[in-house]
Amino acid sequence: MREKKKILLVFGTRPEAIKMAPLVKALAADDSFDTRVAVTAQHREMLDQVMECFGISADYDLNMMKHGQTLSDITARALQGLQAIMAGEQPDVVLVHGDTTTTFAGALAAFYEQIPVGHVEAGLRTGDKYAPYPEEINRRLTGVLTDFHFAPTETARQNLLHAGVDDKQIFVTGNTVIDALLQTVEAGCDLAEFIDAPVDWSKKILLLTCHRRENWGQPMREIFSAVRDLAAEFADELQVVCPVHKNPLVRELAEELLGDCENVHLIEPLEYRPFSKLMSLSYLVATDSGGMQEEAPALGKPVLVLREVTERPEALAAGTAQLIGNRYDTVYGGIKRLLTDEEAYAGMAHAANPYGDGHAVERIRDILKQVL
Ligand code: UD1
Ligand code: UDP
Repeated sequence: MREKKKILLVFGTRPEAIKMAPLVKALAADDSFDTRVAVTAQHREMLDQVMECFGISADYDLNMMKHGQTLSDITARALQGLQAIMAGEQPDVVLVHGDTTTTFAGALAAFYEQIPVGHVEAGLRTGDKYAPYPEEINRRLTGVLTDFHFAPTETARQNLLHAGVDDKQIFVTGNTVIDALLQTVEAGCDLAEFIDAPVDWSKKILLLTCHRRENWGQPMREIFSAVRDLAAEFADELQVVCPVHKNPLVRELAEELLGDCENVHLIEPLEYRPFSKLMSLSYLVATDSGGMQEEAPALGKPVLVLREVTERPEALAAGTAQLIGNRYDTVYGGIKRLLTDEEAYAGMAHAANPYGDGHAVERIRDILKQVL
């Protein structure tokens, strides 16, 4: 029998890497485990940025990102590549994270090798098959393949119970993103080293990010048009900073609609350290990101969610997040309200941490010791 339990962590995109990095480090530092990391590199530059920032490296790298990759491309190549790695390594457990296509392919590959699956950030649901697309189905399918569900919140646990998962297989741990965020914010960083755009930091900073598949095309056009009009209307008091996702579909629209606005700064994706610093300096966050809905409340920043539905209802309940959709009128109105109504702003700008206390990683590590 093996002395140490072998754990294979699988991820491939920026947000998975951010949320898995503290776990990789904690497991690697523990003598009970033999830790391996396999990345699909569904993202390339944006993944590498995170690996470097957290000082972690991959034992296996499928290097599979292609421009214009389709969902079935990613699924097929990740499944084949990951199954071969798992067949060779025969770990005691495979850990996947969240809801990307890498997540689902990783869980399916582990199932084909009859290796137990641990799902970190399990149990998030909108109940809408196509929103977010394909993430809602990725996480449901992953849930079916999972043996150990690491649910970030009690709501997530309830979702899993509702889906018929045995309570004994569910562990409420908090979200590892809060571990990552708190460790990173504590380290500090000089933003000027990373942002050379002429941002006037004395003004209100609106941090904008937008990348989701269901926002591609017309919805994103409306979101960016609303921001463009607000930037002009509030030119004296507002600076918009938008780190643009590497996806060419997103970059073309951002450039077309926001590229020539003086107080809108389109910048490259930022490393996690400067990005979390930027969040902490922002007046307001508008985003369709999943992770930022968890991070902004922890930093006391109001977050306006550029989606019709969210799988993260906790921040809505805590009053620090609001869904403003992806249409011109609702986006324009939602942002304008927080720029003009001090009471509404104050009502949202308070720290809340419904997603964790920064110790999720220790809990997952200790649970793995018990269950393996
Ligand atoms: C993926 C995930 C999504 C997650 C998001 C985080 C799926 C289906 N989607 O969406 O759940 O919220 O990542 O950002 O799993 N690109 C680069 N360099 C990079 C990264 C991306 O050039 O470092 C470009 C490539 O042209 C690539 C495209 O972006 O083809 C789209 O990447 P992909 O991973 O397919 O989709 P995302 O929209 O990033
Ligand atoms: N992020 C980052 N640099 C950026 C933009 C985002 O480090 O320029 C971080 C952010 O703090 C969050 C994660 O990336 O932790 C979110 O990634 P993304 O929006 O791509 O994916 P999602 O959260 O929607 O799955």
